[in-house]
Amino acid sequence: MTAASPATAAAEFRQWQGRASELLAAAPGRINLIGEHVDYQGGLVLPAAINLGVFAAAARLDEPLLRLQTSFPGADSVEIPLDGLHRREGAASWANYPLGVVACYQKAGHASGGLAISFDASLPAGAGLSSSAAFEAATAVIVEQALGISLPPRDRALLCQQAEHDYAGVPCGIMDQFAVNAGQAGHALLRDCRSLEVSPTPLPETVAMVFVDSGVKHALADGEYGKRRTDCETAARLLDVACLREATQEMVENAREALGERVFRRARHVVSEIDRTGQFAAAMAAGKLDEAARLMAASHASLRHDFEVSCDELDALVEIANNLGITGSRMMGGGFGGSTIQLVPAAEAASLAAAIETAAAARGLQVSAFPVTAAAAAAPVAL
Ligand code: GLA
Repeated sequence: MTAASPATAAAEFRQWQGRASELLAAAPGRINLIGEHVDYQGGLVLPAAINLGVFAAAARLDEPLLRLQTSFPGADSVEIPLDGLHRREGAASWANYPLGVVACYQKAGHASGGLAISFDASLPAGAGLSSSAAFEAATAVIVEQALGISLPPRDRALLCQQAEHDYAGVPCGIMDQFAVNAGQAGHALLRDCRSLEVSPTPLPETVAMVFVDSGVKHALADGEYGKRRTDCETAARLLDVACLREATQEMVENAREALGERVFRRARHVVSEIDRTGQFAAAMAAGKLDEAARLMAASHASLRHDFEVSCDELDALVEIANNLGITGSRMMGGGFGGSTIQLVPAAEAASLAAAIETAAAARGLQVSAFPVTAAAAAAPVAL
């Protein structure tokens, strides 16, 4: 976490380009309360945009060029002709997110013209708060400002997702891009990834969210994400449904033999997780916080045993939270490292975050734990 802000992004732009920026954007990261590994099967997810994010400062260029730079350590700046936007490798690979967005807008008929964009971030990269979706959304808002347009959050999210697929090479679902483009302060978003409808869900003031970055990322993460998607597609095909959202737990149980043990367990996770997400939203709306916490615990168990995307460090962090009396604790995001999310009494958020760090250190885990709040969507910032 850094003290980055739109003002620091603007100051960096000035230093880099020797003139003032003319466009500013802020885009949040996201957490996900529940509904993990279901977005690419038309499921229900319950993410929230958060109060940490990516800030972009930009100016139009007379030449047909895209110039990109970021304060992220070890990231090269990039200059690339607008008619030749292609994937970059190595220290310039961070630029695939913004250049992919510019390219996808171009292909959709929204050619921005030359731009120089400088990024600063208060989000830690690679921690599971979706800095990638925040980079994409910040870029999208800059492009829209340059063109004097404002796309609906849903269209912007879909263009950002396209950029991630085609330019970053990550076959992600739609959850992250939706969360950062449609977030509302004080609310989580119950998103139906089949109809793409969204219902903002107020977060009671008595509860707070504590995020824990495990600091680990296991090498198999990327390939395993694709394998999970493929297993789910196999299950849907064998169950003769368009996506697992259309299946019931009973259908999955009845097809156990036909699916085979691994695919059966993948499907059981997805179908039960979709049910849990609906139940969680209802429990929150009814103020049944114990029930919501119980559902988070069940989500973690399912991700661990059936979907097999947890790891020792994440399991240890959930156990540490449980030992501190936090039932609502689970791994969050793609898995194989990354982070956990905790639902805690608001008054104890800061002390519980500190207690998690201490207990983790005693087990040899250097983690970073802090409360996050639900924030608004990506948007232009007035200069
Ligand atoms: C990553 C992807 C999302 C989603 C989660 C798992 O964050 O980007 O689309 O699939 O993993 O829920």
